Amino acid sequence: MCGIVGILGRGPVADQIVDSLKRLEYRGYDSAGVATLEGAHIDRRRAEGKLKNLEAKLGKSPLAGHIGIGHTRWATHGKPTEANAHPHAAEGVAVVHNGIIENFRELRLELEKSGAKFASETDTEVVAHLVSFYLQKGASPVDAVKQALPRLRGAFALAFVFKDHDNLMIGARKGSPLAVGYGDGEMYLGSDAIALAPFTDNISYLEDGDWVVLTRKGAEIHDEQGAVVKRDVMKSGASSFMVDKANYRHFMAKEIHEQPEVVGHTLTRYVDMATERVALPMKLPFDFKDIQRISITACGTASYAGFVAKYWFERFARVPVEVDVASEFRYREAPVRKGDLAIFISQSGETADTLAALRYAKEQGMHTLAVVNVTTSTIARESETVMPTLAGPEIGVASTKAFTCQLMALATLAIAAGKARGELSDADEARLVHGLVKIPRLMTDALTHEAAIEKLARDIAKSKDVLYLGRGTSYPLALEGALKLKEISYIHAEGYAAGELKHGPIALIDETMPVVVIAPYDRVFEKTVSNMQEVAARGGNIILMTDAKGAEEATVDSMVTIVMPDMDAAFTPLVYAIPVQLLAYHTAVVMGTDVDQPRNLAKSVTVE
Ligand code: F6R
Repeated sequence: MCGIVGILGRGPVADQIVDSLKRLEYRGYDSAGVATLEGAHIDRRRAEGKLKNLEAKLGKSPLAGHIGIGHTRWATHGKPTEANAHPHAAEGVAVVHNGIIENFRELRLELEKSGAKFASETDTEVVAHLVSFYLQKGASPVDAVKQALPRLRGAFALAFVFKDHDNLMIGARKGSPLAVGYGDGEMYLGSDAIALAPFTDNISYLEDGDWVVLTRKGAEIHDEQGAVVKRDVMKSGASSFMVDKANYRHFMAKEIHEQPEVVGHTLTRYVDMATERVALPMKLPFDFKDIQRISITACGTASYAGFVAKYWFERFARVPVEVDVASEFRYREAPVRKGDLAIFISQSGETADTLAALRYAKEQGMHTLAVVNVTTSTIARESETVMPTLAGPEIGVASTKAFTCQLMALATLAIAAGKARGELSDADEARLVHGLVKIPRLMTDALTHEAAIEKLARDIAKSKDVLYLGRGTSYPLALEGALKLKEISYIHAEGYAAGELKHGPIALIDETMPVVVIAPYDRVFEKTVSNMQEVAARGGNIILMTDAKGAEEATVDSMVTIVMPDMDAAFTPLVYAIPVQLLAYHTAVVMGTDVDQPRNLAKSVTVE
């Protein structure tokens, strides 16, 4: 996971940048680099592997500039070579980047046509060439970045330095976090407060879409529309290391907002971004062709991730999947077939029931694969194959980012299974992976609904019960929505398959009952609209989460609609998870509960 540091200093900055990059090592990386302004020119040192390789290069051939940017790269587009390491440069500019530029292929072709020569396989290099293109047309650095940013699609954080400009650095944030540090005659940019802790604890966090112009005197922050805005300067408390809440009121809020970034990291772990193919980094000790049935076992939110994955495995790979909550699987003496695959999903990797189920599956001679966030955990250690999710530490007891990272890892595994079983063609794989690549950006778009959801939460907070409905992959998400709401707001909530409404829960509906309907416009949308009519006819208050087409087609009264971005129907739970989580979070805030540590709950459930 890439780390960014930028320093506008009073003396040579290269050593400080490397020290700061060391504090970002925890994010994981496989190459690193620094660029500083040497006189009027930008000079770079980059190295494969660990920071000590970069330090050795700097020892032999130091950089003396007083302004510079540095980066630890976690390879996504292209191998971890020196040529692919950041900073990337084009005439007049150098840049470091964290995230994904989705439309890098189109931009690269366009820039190559106008004469740009590319030296790497990365998506980042197009950013350098794009800004350079505008510089060469006569734009100032600020105007060049201003023109380039709206052309970039994806989720990213960027830091730029410019030839001939010893007192100018520009940063930008869309999806991936970026912090501004205020020093005494010095200014800084960093992926997080931890990177900047040796220099300052006065930090502003850029908001989504913000870009910032730094000089040694200070920072001018602009929002996405270009208006100058103020962002609070706060004491970072980065001494508390990774458990920093940044400028969020709760860890849960921070973790919801981190999703575009960490889901992007998880994606890049399992696909080759350059070719848009699934590329699992581990060798599977079985052939999906030989698997007759997959059993998925987990608890709580993790089990709902497994439930969504069931739809994917069955659709993409045509392999039957059983999903069990671990506490049932371990005692129900399920007949399993030796050599079949058992998947275990766990954030903590320590959940007692999931661990017991894993041991049972091993005893039965099944292949075991764990999707876990804590890679040092018991479940990770005892599983035959491990697929780490790269959510980073999840502190809020209610799982948010671990859930969507689990979904991302499982989506790539399901595509790999479909390919291996000959159910998906190369073209199908490319289409599906292309759909996944868009997810971090779509999550960023989904986060823009926060203000509307916060307003809605004030009404939900007055309710005694809430119903969540969905069909297809939105059904497990309805279960997750209900779980999220009840565990942190203590409001009773139930999730149902929308088609089940008539078989019982409809009896509950009256004008006091909010019904959250998760219904992207897909092949079952019409059916869900009928269920909504049934709710409306009984006075229920519908909150519809859909896309533009769904909003246009659903004509039901007494309805609040949250319009999500258009996307590939297969992967909607990854993006619709965001309004579902935000609704639970803001309702809990209105209720005044202990959001991060709800009563009676533990983060890691190590007892039965
Ligand atoms: C709900 C939640 C729990 C966990 C469950 C499994 O927000 O966090 O339902 O998902 O306790 O925990 P892990 O994933 O650590 O096995």
